Amino acid sequence: MDKIIITGGKALDGKISISGGKNAALPLMCAAILTEEDVVFENAPTSLADMDSLKHLLEHLGCEVEFIGSKARINAKGIHHYNAPYDIVRKMRASILVLGPLLARFGEAVVSYPGGCAIGARPIDVTLKGLEALGTEITLDNGYVHAKVKGDQLQGTHYTLAVPSWTGTENLIMAAVFANGTTVFENVAREPEVVDLCNCLNSMGAKIEGAGTPTITIHGVDRLHGTTHTVMTDRLEAGTYAVAAAITGGRIHLDNTTHEVLHAFTESLQRSGASVTPVDNGLIVEGGNEIQPVDIITEPYPGFATDLQAQMMALMTLAKGTSLITETIFENRFMHVPELNRMGANITIQGNIAVVRGVPSLQGAPVMATDLRASVSMVLAGLAAKGDTTVNRIYHLDRGYERLDEKLKACGATIIRSCSD
Ligand code: EPZ
Repeated sequence: MDKIIITGGKALDGKISISGGKNAALPLMCAAILTEEDVVFENAPTSLADMDSLKHLLEHLGCEVEFIGSKARINAKGIHHYNAPYDIVRKMRASILVLGPLLARFGEAVVSYPGGCAIGARPIDVTLKGLEALGTEITLDNGYVHAKVKGDQLQGTHYTLAVPSWTGTENLIMAAVFANGTTVFENVAREPEVVDLCNCLNSMGAKIEGAGTPTITIHGVDRLHGTTHTVMTDRLEAGTYAVAAAITGGRIHLDNTTHEVLHAFTESLQRSGASVTPVDNGLIVEGGNEIQPVDIITEPYPGFATDLQAQMMALMTLAKGTSLITETIFENRFMHVPELNRMGANITIQGNIAVVRGVPSLQGAPVMATDLRASVSMVLAGLAAKGDTTVNRIYHLDRGYERLDEKLKACGATIIRSCSD
C-alpha cells in the first residue's frame, strides 16, 4: 500500500493550482444521466479515485464516459438498466447520487443502500422521504433501495428537509426536474456546489430557482439537452493548502480559486494570524509569526465547513493557547485526534468538542489515515513537525486530492510517495 513520507520544518513558498471540486464534479457527472445528449465538463478533477469510481458506475449503467485531461465527456443515451450494485456503491458513498436522476429519467432505480463510513452513520432518510413526497414508492430489501414512480410521472410537491443534507438536496433536485408541475424544497443545503449543479441543470434546460438560498423551486420540464459546463473550484482543496502555508509560516499563491467560497474558513484563518489576500483568480496565504488560538464550530454552509475541521485542528495544535473545536455535523469526525496526539499534540475530546491546547512543536511519527480529511490533516502536521512523518493508507488522500505530493513538493516540501508492500 502506498504511503507518503514528509520531512517537516520548511516554510512552504510557491504557487498551487487548485483543481475542480470533487464534491461539485460528482453530482454534475450524475446529472448527465438526465439527457441523451453529450454533457462535457471542463476543469474536472479526473485523476481523483472517486471520479474513477463514478466513471466505472456510469459505464456499468451503459453510459459512455471519456476523461481527456481535465475534460470529462458523458453520454447517457445508452443506459440499459438502472441498477447500481453494492460492489460499486460500497467503494464510494456518493454513488447514491445516481438515484435521483435514474428515477427522473426511467421512473425506477435500484441503488445499493450506502453504508456508513468512518465519520458517521450517514443516513439518507431525508432523501427517501423527499422522493416519497414526489410520488415515489420506496422499498428497502437485501440492502438495496428500490425506488419506483407511482403512476406515470413524479408529481410536484412541497417538502421540507429535516436536515440540510448536501447530497440529499442534490439528489432531490435531480429527481424533480421532470416532475409534473412545481416543486418547492425548503431547508435545503446552500453549498456552492449545489449552486454549481443548479447552474449546470439550468444550462441543460431545467427551470430551477433559489439555488444558494434555503428554498429551491423547480418547475418541471419535459426533457433536458446537453451542455458544456466548467466545474467550480475545489474550496476544500484550497482551504487545505491555505493551512499548509499557515502551519509552516510560509507563503502560497492559490491559483484557480476564489475568496468568496471560503469566507467562514478564511475569517478563522485570519484570526489565527495568517494573512489572506485575494488576487486575480485566486488567493495568497501567508503564515503569521505566531499561530493564535481560534474556536471553531462546524456548520452547514455558509458556516465553517466540517470538511476543513481536521485541517484547522492541525494548525491549532501549534497555537499560542487553547482552541475549542466543536463538530456539529458528524458524530465521529475526530479520528485524526489520536494520531495528532502521537505527534506530540495535546488534544482532549469532550463529547463533540475537541480541546486543543497548543504545544511548542510537533514530532514526526508514523501515522494512520482513516478518512479523506483526517489523512490530509496528518500531512499538514507532518509539514510542520520536526523529523519524518509517514502517512499510511494514502488511498484516502487519492480519493480527494489530485497530485498532492507534487503540488506540495513544488512549494519546497520534502515529501516522497513510496509504494510499500
Ligand atoms: C456531503 O456528504 C459531502 N460529500 C461530505 O464531504 C460533507 O462532509 C458533508 O456533505 C457535509 O454536510 C459530498 O458532497 C460527496 P449530509 P453528505 O447529507 O451529503 C445527517 C468529503 O470529505 N443526515 O450533508 O453525505 C448526517 O448523518 C465528504 O468530501 C441525516 O441525518 O452529508 C450528517 O450527520 C465527507 N439524514 C449530516 O446530516 C439524512 O438523510 C450531514 O450529512 C442525511 C444526512
